[in-house]
Amino acid sequence: MSQTAVPVIAIDGPTASGKGTVAQRVADSLGFHYLDSGSLYRLTALAALRQGIDLANAPDLARVATNMQIDFQGGKTLLDGCDVGDEIRTELASQNASLVAALPMVRDALLTLQRDFRVAPGLVADGRDMGSVVFPDATLKVYLTATAEARAVRRTKQLKEKGMSAIMDDVVKELRARDERDMNRPVAPLKHYPDAYLIDTTEISADQAVKKILGLAQKSVGS
Ligand code: DC
Repeated sequence: MSQTAVPVIAIDGPTASGKGTVAQRVADSLGFHYLDSGSLYRLTALAALRQGIDLANAPDLARVATNMQIDFQGGKTLLDGCDVGDEIRTELASQNASLVAALPMVRDALLTLQRDFRVAPGLVADGRDMGSVVFPDATLKVYLTATAEARAVRRTKQLKEKGMSAIMDDVVKELRARDERDMNRPVAPLKHYPDAYLIDTTEISADQAVKKILGLAQKSVGS
């Protein structure tokens, strides 16, 4: 099967909309591969900071994005062979990822890497520009969202479950700052495009969102 014939389900949406959990479950149900594209921006920022590179230095950041040694194994995220799964999920790492993601050179540098995840029998990819830039020919495009308040409640719960400190007011502020940057940057801004199905998860569970997407996938992917 040629790479472009491999079905892709693109799930885009703002931070803490539940897209990571939902996308992973959809991938598991269909036996598809899964790409968490946000982790690539998080890893780029972390790898750059470890090399003492300023997060505004676009050419050096692009070089880091192209050359970093990363691997995803058994649910682990490895950078230079070490598990950095928790380190890339802190609020600081989230803000840093959002900063480097605004740089066109970094986005370009990560394009091929992301497209290489398109392997048979199929791919579920989540992020901000999966349906608009990385996989514009995706078989199914979904925009997953929820109110800022609902997302902040989820994010606070997630952080506390991981033993990290989280104050609701701070989480709302950080989430809004990240939304603002991700939605208003000139390159690949997060946006609901008309070719993506809108699913609002404010009032529904992750399981219900998964069911909806699997129903849509049945029609478009034929699974
Ligand atoms: O999905 P996430 O929260 O892990 O993403 C971290 C940051 O990376 C987010 O603030 C925006 C950026 N990002 C992006 O610009 N494009 C993507 N496809 C995925 C993430």
